[in-house]
Amino acid sequence: MKLLAAAASLIVATEAAGIGSNVQSVLQQVIGLDTHQPKPNILFVITDDQDLELDSVAYTPLIQKHLRDKGTFFCNHFVTTALCCPSRVSLWTGRQAHNTNVTDVRPPYGGYPKFVDRGFNENFLPVWLQEAGYDTYYTGKLFNAHTIDNYHRPHVNGFNGSDFLLDPYTYTYLNATYQRNHDPPMSYEGQHTIDVITEKALGFLDDALQGERPFFVTVAPVAPHSNVDPNAMETGRITMGAPVPLERHQHLFEDVKVPRTEHFNPDEPSGVSWIRDLPQQNQSVIDYNDHFYRSRLRALQGVDELVDTLIKRLEESNKLDNTYIIYTSDNGFHIGQHRLPPGKTCGFEEDIRVPLFIRGPGIPEGYVQDSVTTHIDLAPTIFDLAGIPPRSDFDGTAIPVTPDFAGRRHEHVTVEYWGKGIMEGTFGGIGPGGSSMVPNNTYKSVRLLGEGYNLYYSVWCNNEHELYDLSTDPYQLHNLYPSSAQADDDEPRILGRSLSQAITRLDALLLVLKSCQGNTCIEPWNALQPENSVRSLRDALDKRYDAFYERQPQVSFDWCAAGHIIEAEGPQVPLTSRYGLSWDNWV
Ligand SMILES: *[C@@H]1O[C@H](CO)[C@@H](O)[C@H](O)[C@H]1NC(C)=O
Ligand SMILES: *[C@@H]1O[C@H](CO)[C@@H](O)[C@H](O)[C@H]1NC(C)=O
Ligand SMILES: *[C@@H]1O[C@H](CO)[C@@H](O)[C@H](O)[C@H]1NC(C)=O
Ligand SMILES: *[C@@H]1O[C@H](CO)[C@@H](O)[C@H](O)[C@H]1NC(C)=O
Ligand SMILES: *[C@@H]1O[C@H](CO)[C@@H](O)[C@H](O)[C@H]1NC(C)=O
Repeated sequence: MKLLAAAASLIVATEAAGIGSNVQSVLQQVIGLDTHQPKPNILFVITDDQDLELDSVAYTPLIQKHLRDKGTFFCNHFVTTALCCPSRVSLWTGRQAHNTNVTDVRPPYGGYPKFVDRGFNENFLPVWLQEAGYDTYYTGKLFNAHTIDNYHRPHVNGFNGSDFLLDPYTYTYLNATYQRNHDPPMSYEGQHTIDVITEKALGFLDDALQGERPFFVTVAPVAPHSNVDPNAMETGRITMGAPVPLERHQHLFEDVKVPRTEHFNPDEPSGVSWIRDLPQQNQSVIDYNDHFYRSRLRALQGVDELVDTLIKRLEESNKLDNTYIIYTSDNGFHIGQHRLPPGKTCGFEEDIRVPLFIRGPGIPEGYVQDSVTTHIDLAPTIFDLAGIPPRSDFDGTAIPVTPDFAGRRHEHVTVEYWGKGIMEGTFGGIGPGGSSMVPNNTYKSVRLLGEGYNLYYSVWCNNEHELYDLSTDPYQLHNLYPSSAQADDDEPRILGRSLSQAITRLDALLLVLKSCQGNTCIEPWNALQPENSVRSLRDALDKRYDAFYERQPQVSFDWCAAGHIIEAEGPQVPLTSRYGLSWDNWV
């Protein structure tokens, strides 16, 4: 009895100290004590290809009202692979794409069949949540290459109720095919996909609200992704065209254009590799891009209303107060920046930054959290919110949902991509032979945001490099990576050190991150310098460590592979200060 009382007061104390609910749940498991009310419900809304950088959220007043004003906005939230399927598999497993090896939208490197082959159908978030006592529901797009032919070979596991959009009709706004539970696929010809998903989402929400267990409901509308009509060919290829809004939204925003930032169709080429070779866009292309941009904002209006409808239903059921609502997108989007046609698949801010809002019990209202967070962190965050101890194979860590969060934070995002760049829209045929696919878009990068620095460093499969200092170059127009080894006296500095010294640190960090697993992905400096208290780029830039970093093998590729082929990806293992090597050994 005494022990129980002590344990209970320990739990109260950890709560008062703001210690993560993980600690509490471990304590609760150890002593078999449940001091809490029922576990919270979770409503997860994930849009498709919604940008943060091009201002999409400014056009969704209901999302602002319900989620930004009533919840926390994570203003430095990033995806780790800017392509739907890899990004979603990473999100639902909490693992980097180099650990899922689902790196593309279709086999052999990705898509639903690859997800199944890799064993994730038995091992991903909804399965874990069901095991933890949740009822789980999903409607909308799950993965790519989840088709009218393979949806039952096998069925997706982990959901008490599901109604999935299926390829090749996933992106056909006016002829979507959905597939419910174990029923055969059904075509919704002539109905708008957002109307269809709204009805399905409300149905599952009602089922969930009637259940006795806490629920996890995901609603994954396809907007504002491009429209794809598998029967319509344009110039001999299927085109990913502008999204199709609901009729009542078709004429909104007539004067709105893509923001004319410095990197919009710039006079000078920018970026590296194939991006640098893009021609400047003429007026017809610019006009088309503006139309495409407006179509996305219009298509998002349906999502704005969907969110409003779902929240009203929660409110009516009196469950809103015990429900977390998470809103995000699978990857971002660019239109015209760096002269690019509409699309994603790049490492620029437009493609990797996405909106993330969370509202719910204990989460501050109208708060902006600027800690770096990623999609790999979302499964660990949901575990944390549900009071489930984290898995050891998570490459991410729970994010700070409260301002006094005492868990682990990180300053980096590991960005990775394999294979083709995918161009969208009428003028997307810029690849070989007018194809909308550009080969050799394989790169690895690290996005780093800390006190006094804001950087993006990448290595491409042809061994080109990029280094952008976003504190002075927010639009990533000036690649600082030196074209020759010769240092220039008035070259920019990073935290007071030369570019070449900074690059040694960034490269070593990327070397760790590109093959990290579990904890190494969360605390990468610790893999390099476990003997020192190096936690950040700032720490690592200490002059004492120059020789150590100068000796590191460098990130490089042997060739451009379309998937995660280790042999093509150069050195895998950094030198480490482990095994008792003293610093004198490196000087
Ligand atoms: C949901 O599925 C889980 C796992 O199969 C099961 O234990 C639970 O009872 C189901 N909930 C409902 C409401 O059927
Ligand atoms: C709509 O989709 C169905 C398949 O679900 C297909 O059979 C039909 O031909 C499509 N209709 C049009 C107009 O493309
Ligand atoms: C503008 O550029 C597009 C894409 O290169 C091209 O197809 C089109 O003919 C050009 N239009 C004019 C008016 O030059
Ligand atoms: C793509 O990379 C491969 C292998 O590294 C190379 O052989 C090929 O020439 C490259 N293609 C283009 C279009 O750059
Ligand atoms: C990833 O999958 C591809 C395709 O099956 C395979 O060739 C490759 O070796 C795999 N990579 C790793 C690291 O397992």
